Amino acid sequence: MQFMATAAFGLEGLVAGELKRMGLLASAVNGGAMFEGSFEDAMRANLYLRTADRVLLVVGTFEARTFEELFEGVAALPWEQYLTRDCRFPVSGNCARSQLMSVSDCQAITKKAIVRRLQEKYHVTWFEESGVTIPISVTLHANQARLTIDTSGQALNRRGYRTWNGEAPLRETLAAALVDLSPWRGNLPLADPFCGTGTLLIEAAFKMSHRAPGLTRTFAMEQFPYLVPGFPRLREAAQAEFDPSLIEGISGSDIDPEAIALAKRHIVQAGLGGRIQVRVADMRDFHPQERYGVCLSNPPYGERLSDRKACETLYRELGRLMAANPGWSLSAISSHPQFERCLGRRADKKRRFYNGRLECEFMTFFAKERPPRRDTPEKASAPD
Ligand SMILES: C[S@@+](CC[C@H](N)C(=O)[O-])C[C@H]1O[C@@H](n2cnc3c(N)ncnc32)[C@H](O)[C@@H]1O
Repeated sequence: MQFMATAAFGLEGLVAGELKRMGLLASAVNGGAMFEGSFEDAMRANLYLRTADRVLLVVGTFEARTFEELFEGVAALPWEQYLTRDCRFPVSGNCARSQLMSVSDCQAITKKAIVRRLQEKYHVTWFEESGVTIPISVTLHANQARLTIDTSGQALNRRGYRTWNGEAPLRETLAAALVDLSPWRGNLPLADPFCGTGTLLIEAAFKMSHRAPGLTRTFAMEQFPYLVPGFPRLREAAQAEFDPSLIEGISGSDIDPEAIALAKRHIVQAGLGGRIQVRVADMRDFHPQERYGVCLSNPPYGERLSDRKACETLYRELGRLMAANPGWSLSAISSHPQFERCLGRRADKKRRFYNGRLECEFMTFFAKERPPRRDTPEKASAPD
C-alpha cells in the first residue's frame, strides 16, 4: 500500500529521512513524504514519526478537471477494501491551483461517488453510518485528485503532554525538527533560556530517551475494522524502548513564572518528571556551569512594532552571552530580520521554516571553542 506522511513546509526531507531510518522505502514530495508499506508500517509511522503531521493511506490519484472526471475517478477506486457496510466516512477536502476549486462541491461529489461504489458492491441502497469512523480526504492540487484515508486522527503534533498553551508555543513537530537540525547530539548539555512551556526541551528529551512521540496517544487506524493483530505488540515494544534514565543535561529557564509552571506540568505529563530542570530566570542570568554545550531557543520575535526594540536589545544581550561562553553553540528560530545583526555574528547555517504563519529562519552559530576529542589523550599515552 502507498502512504503519505504529511508535513509542514520545509520538513518534508526530515520526514523522508525518519521513514528511511525505519527501514521504509520513502521519498520526499511537496507537502510530506510518500512511503510504501503495510498497515503495521503505518502504525509504526504514527507511533514514531517526530516531524510529520499525519499518516494518510493513499487510495488513489488521478487527473480531474471536471466534476464528472472526479466522480468517475472516485467511483473507480476499491473503497470496499477499506470501508465496511456500517462505517461512518466523513469527507474533508482541499483544493489548490486546480480547475475544480469549490471544496464543498468536491467533498459532496466524492461522498456520492463512494456511496454509489459501495451500493454496487454491498447491494444496499442506504448506509446507516453507525459504525467506526474512517475519515476520508479529497485533495486537488494542479488538477490531480488524491483520495486518502487518515490513519492518524488527531494531528501527530498532539503528543498528549501539552494540555495548556502558553504564549506562542512552538509546534511539537517543528520543535522536534529543530532539535534534529541543531548541533546537539546528546553528548553535550542542552539549554533553552527562553523555554516557555518547554516544547524544545521535551522533544529533545524524547529523542535522548528513545521515547516514541505517539506512545501514550491513540490513532484513528486503531479503530478501523481491518485491525492488524500486531498493533498492541508495537506499542509494547515502543514502551520497552523508552528509557528516561538516559536523559542528562537538559535544562531551561524563562522569565515568565506562568510559562515555567506550564513547562513543569508538561514535563510530568510527558512522563519525564525529574529528568529536565526548569526555573524562572531572566536570560541575562544564564551563566552555564559547563564549558561546552548547545543553546537551542525560540526567543520572542517582536511581532508588534512596540516589542521590536525590546527584542533587539534581547538579541544583543544574547550575542554578549554567547561571546562570553565560546564553548557553547547557539541555534535559534526567529522571524526578526535583524537577528544576526543584533547578535553581532553571521549564522554558520540557516534554514527557512514557517512557525504558524510566520516565515522564520532557523540559524546556527557554532561554538568558537570545541571540546577536546575524548580519544586523543588515551591514544597519546597508549603503550607501544
Ligand atoms: C516564543 S516564546 C517561547 C515558546 C516556547 N518555545 C514554547 O514552546 O512554549 C518566547 C519566550 O521568551 C520568554 N522571554 C522573554 N523575555 C525573556 C527574558 N528576558 N529572559 C528569559 N525569557 C524571556 C517569554 O516569556 C516566552 O515564554
